[in-house]
Amino acid sequence: MKIIKAKDYQDMSRKAANIISAQVILKPDCVLGLATGSTPIGMYEKLVERYNKGDLDFGDVTTVNLDEYKGLPKEDEQSYYYFMHSHLFDYVNINPDRTFLPDGMNEDPDAECERYEEVIRSVGGVDLQLLGMGHNGHIGFNEPGEEFAKGTHCVDLQPRTIEANKRFFASAEDVPRQAYSMGIQTIMKAKKILVIVSGEDKAEALKNSLFGPVTPHVPGSILQMHPDVTIVADEAALSKCNL
Ligand code: GLP
Repeated sequence: MKIIKAKDYQDMSRKAANIISAQVILKPDCVLGLATGSTPIGMYEKLVERYNKGDLDFGDVTTVNLDEYKGLPKEDEQSYYYFMHSHLFDYVNINPDRTFLPDGMNEDPDAECERYEEVIRSVGGVDLQLLGMGHNGHIGFNEPGEEFAKGTHCVDLQPRTIEANKRFFASAEDVPRQAYSMGIQTIMKAKKILVIVSGEDKAEALKNSLFGPVTPHVPGSILQMHPDVTIVADEAALSKCNL
């Protein structure tokens, strides 16, 4: 694992954007696995800036997102579809037909999960997967549990995740209770993984993921087993790691 220490959120965003940019420049027709949440917002801003300067071309890029809330239509401002359009897709020259997310409105979990795994297979797998991290060490929406989830699956969100994500909704009651998420096996199949983490409130989860035992109780700990992981975290997030 390569750990890159950033000074603060802005620095983390810049360093992460450098890595995504390098991927797109070196392989213009790459498949990016993308993530949502507050952490990547600054990084997406930097990617849009670079696109506007003419330094980045998304014309041949394909994207597959990690997860989507079940039950939210695309036009809902809290859907991850809406998030991706309002933070990246609408501002760069990506082909919308080459951007993929789970369909939150498919009520049949088995059919949707199978469809999404097939989407990932059909684009040739993920070259670089971006991940944020939840306070409980979740990646995508893979919540702590007794075993690692394998493929794309329907998740019951944990109370702590609902609590953390309610800031984006009118109230906690409005946060969907379920989501579709790539599984751990799906994530681990990516050729490269980039994890971005910011803030002291993530320090414990990050320490446990990087240096604790590999256990489904801390889903991020599985990343220790992946051959090509880069962590970009700010000083606050790394404050519990002895580096
Ligand atoms: C959400 C997303 C994750 C994200 C995490 C952290 O639940 N499903 O993909 O990494 O929570 O979010 P944030 O960056 O807002 O702290």
